[in-house]
Amino acid sequence: MKHLILLSIMFVIGVFNRPLSTNNIVPYSFPQENTQENAYIILMDQCNGCHITKQRGMVFTRDNMNRYSLAIEQQVFVKKRMPKGKKNKLTSTELNKLRLWLDSLNNH
Ligand code: HEC
Repeated sequence: MKHLILLSIMFVIGVFNRPLSTNNIVPYSFPQENTQENAYIILMDQCNGCHITKQRGMVFTRDNMNRYSLAIEQQVFVKKRMPKGKKNKLTSTELNKLRLWLDSLNNH
């Protein structure tokens, strides 16, 4: 009887029904595509909205972003001019994701 109660308690607090390790299910296929896709989402969210009206020649797409990568690196990481405007700041997560994408390109 004591064991039955113990088993029921363990079941309720989820000892048996949680996956063994959630670390094993991090998607690891296509790291290059994920890295670029993450960066693309940031360029869409933080850059294109302004560029589409104020810098028409330079709207970032999946196709052209790698070609613009050196200019993006200069503006965001070296000169720190972009994103333009005091209110437009990238979070550290966004900066890290851009950094990962730039590093993945082997530009240097
Ligand atoms: C609020 C408006 C605005 C936002 C947001 C913005 N830009 Fe710009 N960007 C501009 C304008 C205007 C120019 C052209 C004039 C200049 O260089 O200041 C420009 C120019 C650039 C250039 C070319 C600079 C050169 O002379 O080579 C790059 C690269 C660039 N932006 C990257 C980015 C990236 C990457 C982001 C997002 C992380 C971003 N910008 C966000 C307005 C913006």
